[in-house]
Amino acid sequence: MSEFIRWGILSTAGIAASAFVPAVGQTSRGQLVGVASRDKTRADAFAAEHKIERSFGSYEELLACDDIDAIYNPLPNSMHAEWTQRAAEAGKHVFCEKPLGISVAECEKMVADCADAGVLLFEAFVFLYHPKSLKLRQVIDAGQIGPLVQMQASFTFPLKRPTDNIRMNKELAGGSLMDVGCYPISYARFIFGEEPISVLAACHIDAEYDVDSRASIILTFSGNRHASLQQGFDAPGGQRAVIHGADGYIDVLRPSHPLPEDHFVVYTGGDEEVVEVNAGVHSFAPAIEHFHDCLLDGVEPISTGANAAGTLRIIEAVLESSRTGRRIDLV
Ligand SMILES: NC(=O)c1ccc[n+]([C@@H]2O[C@H](COP(=O)([O-])OP(=O)(O)OC[C@H]3O[C@@H](n4cnc5c(N)ncnc54)[C@H](OP(=O)(O)O)[C@@H]3O)[C@@H](O)[C@H]2O)c1
Repeated sequence: MSEFIRWGILSTAGIAASAFVPAVGQTSRGQLVGVASRDKTRADAFAAEHKIERSFGSYEELLACDDIDAIYNPLPNSMHAEWTQRAAEAGKHVFCEKPLGISVAECEKMVADCADAGVLLFEAFVFLYHPKSLKLRQVIDAGQIGPLVQMQASFTFPLKRPTDNIRMNKELAGGSLMDVGCYPISYARFIFGEEPISVLAACHIDAEYDVDSRASIILTFSGNRHASLQQGFDAPGGQRAVIHGADGYIDVLRPSHPLPEDHFVVYTGGDEEVVEVNAGVHSFAPAIEHFHDCLLDGVEPISTGANAAGTLRIIEAVLESSRTGRRIDLV
């Protein structure tokens, strides 16, 4: 392997253009080498616009390219597993979009496939690697708000219908839980640092598209501590979290996708402390930089794809709880 990581992108996805490409450009050791599309003309146009050297008319051709070390997989959710597995077989490291797979079983197989092939697998929950989350972790672990008691987190935006957006396409494993709900769920797992012991939820299923379009969820963690989560495509709101300890609370705007100049606010005993976290880069950049460090310097990953099954386990329980009206015990 060279002193750089040479990247290929599987598809001309919107998120590749808006997030991955600019973020790789801000890392010290990432090079964008190729992009593939189902349509060669689309790949050519994407490559020209983003100054990427090579373009391919199929994903297979990109995977066969010897000059590519790692691939970014922003395909529709239903295709993450197949193309991660094919990339691993081709010896490519994989930075795969969230959710990693569409079931616990699929996630576990993806992790095993990548381990067998000796390639690194990250799920693109970029907040896990971001200085804002790492600083927040320090504040909580230092006991600044006392022992954790409960938290709220939400991620909503209005998705206009009718639409052919992959997010409302059942065949492609759309639905709001797969798209936005996975964020507050994985954030709650990150904040509590453990898996919940039960899940109670109510989902709304869009009758026309037959996918969930919003949900409210209660996760119970050890010690009867709770996370209350809202998510969906049916209302504006963006993303936010409030974390309550016995002695104070923390307000976090944009927990999943921090701005280059960002902050969170810690409230304790009538005091208000604004904690600035100025990463100075796109929210994807620290995760990609860490991916490079793991590959090139042998740094131990903060998190890998192996973390992903926990979020899918909860999504499966959310759907079951909503369907049956029962609380689902996870242990
Ligand atoms: N981490 C984040 O912040 C974040 C944000 C947004 C989205 N995402 C994730 O990224 C993935 C892509 O989301 P997106 O919004 O970028 O989607 P998108 O713009 O619709 O892109 C998906 C791409 O997949 C390719 N594709 C292959 N088969 C397809 C099919 N049957 N139908 C539609 N597209 C097909 C298409 O590229 P070609 O035609 O060029 O092959 C298409 O451009 C999803 O998994 C989503 O959850 C993550």
